[in-house]
Amino acid sequence: MTSLRVPGDKSISHRALMLAALGRGTSRVRGVLRSADVRATAGVLRACGVTIPDLDAAELVIEGVGLRGLRAPVASLDCGNSGTTARLMAGVVAGAGLTACFEGDASLSGRPMRRVAAPLEAMGARVELPAHGGLPMTVHGASLHGLTWRADVASAQVKSAILLAGLVANVPVEVHEPAATRDHTERMLRARGVDVRTEGLDVLLQPRARLDAGDMDVPGDPSSAAFLAGLAALGVSGELRLENVGINPGRTGAFQVLKRMGASLRFEAVSDEGGEPVATVVVRGEALRGTVITPDEVPSLIDELPLLGCIAARAEGETRVTGAGELRVKESDRIKAVVDNLRAVGADAEELPDGFVVRGSDRPYVGRVRTHADHRIAMAFGVLGATPGSTIAIDDPSCVAVSYPTFWDDLARVRAD
Ligand code: S3P
Repeated sequence: MTSLRVPGDKSISHRALMLAALGRGTSRVRGVLRSADVRATAGVLRACGVTIPDLDAAELVIEGVGLRGLRAPVASLDCGNSGTTARLMAGVVAGAGLTACFEGDASLSGRPMRRVAAPLEAMGARVELPAHGGLPMTVHGASLHGLTWRADVASAQVKSAILLAGLVANVPVEVHEPAATRDHTERMLRARGVDVRTEGLDVLLQPRARLDAGDMDVPGDPSSAAFLAGLAALGVSGELRLENVGINPGRTGAFQVLKRMGASLRFEAVSDEGGEPVATVVVRGEALRGTVITPDEVPSLIDELPLLGCIAARAEGETRVTGAGELRVKESDRIKAVVDNLRAVGADAEELPDGFVVRGSDRPYVGRVRTHADHRIAMAFGVLGATPGSTIAIDDPSCVAVSYPTFWDDLARVRAD
């Protein structure tokens, strides 16, 4: 049996830094993810005048500047590879009435920003975008007005940008989502005294003059845990216990799918950490069979679909995913990347416009994988490459630094068991 802890949740770490920065007084944040994406958020907040300590400290003590205390940055804000940094901070900057230019790496620069620019403009901000709709994006904040917005994509980043813009500008906002997405922003705002209500697919925020400071222990990231759980589900290790994993229902779709495919997977020692449910995830391998992943499940496992594609390559029968067109605008076109790479190593896979089909086998998978610098592609194929009989070379293993810098060590530990 192996027991381990995965690093802190990426989505929650970004938000914990932002809310600590905007709070009134001192917030203490423990367990923050020390990865390239979260460092990008820390850098952007520093550029806006907030003192954020080095992320390597065991506990980050952050003096909030308050909802109206941010300063306009003197240079462009470098968001690296991180969509959460660019989109959430666009909402913050717009609400604060500041002007800032957001930049990123080649992958982030090609990702769609109009989805966040449009609601911010509807609130009264002005946003300049290049013709392709990505970065660099210049946000000219203003005195914003309230908004009721019907989002046409299910995106927690867009929802959160609108909520943060409303919070900082002190105006009411209401977002209607086409499907429920992760609700970390709502939970964390509630824990800091803000009136945020969820009614079906509507999220409503009432303005409040200040945001309370709040301490937080960031739980382990279920998206990181899923890779190791997937390996254990395939029977490559003995029983695996992953401690202190966030099990927010908006994030646990992959665990449910692994169970449906036949894995033995359960949550033990369930507790609450600052409004977020946390548990030990216990996984044991069984013979897995293919499954159908339906559009309504997609938001709860969107970041785990590359992994599930690779797990499906080792399950009996066919696995079909639809309603996941959003995968095409992630850190890479993940539908194409999963299918092309599965074929490159000898698996049977097919692209759909909004998903993919994989037919599993126990034959050896051998070949070279192109990650397109996408961390989740690297980790998904790292898991497949760790299954018996596989020899898979990954062109850029270091890209895991975006979300899970210690991934290769943890994978080796689980595999050695
Ligand atoms: C995230 C939301 C999701 C997810 C991303 C993190 C967040 O993106 O894929 O990894 O922290 O809000 P979208 O909002 O684009 O779906």
